[in-house]
Amino acid sequence: MSELSRIGVAIDSDLLEKFDRLIASRGYTNRSEAFRDLIREELVQKTWERPDSNVVGTVTLVYDHHVRLLNEKLTDLQHSHFHHILSTLHVHLDHDNCLEVLVVKGKAGVVKKIADALISTKGVKHGRLTLTSTGAGL
Ligand code: NI
Repeated sequence: MSELSRIGVAIDSDLLEKFDRLIASRGYTNRSEAFRDLIREELVQKTWERPDSNVVGTVTLVYDHHVRLLNEKLTDLQHSHFHHILSTLHVHLDHDNCLEVLVVKGKAGVVKKIADALISTKGVKHGRLTLTSTGAGL
């Protein structure tokens, strides 16, 4: 970790009150950590916008495994991108529905395309890509 800098921030009292309520509801015990997390969140978001930046994330899929050939299509897609899919978790939610969580890693542009292909596959009821940082440089 680099050297610690102290800064003073002028902020409207009403806004600060709202901020304090928000961070308290999220479990922060001090403002400094909340500010640091907000800044990191913005930096991570900025990283995702560059297609060549390295990211890690998860793709969450919910689908009905009775849909014809859906399992095969999703598996084929995953095998086509095995370099970028590090791990998968499959949960049988009920008689019909499956939840799959894929851990993905690679260039932001590639990871987004893989996620789009999986999520847009016919029969997938809901899907979401959650990108985060590799942690390097944060
Ligand atoms: Ni299942």
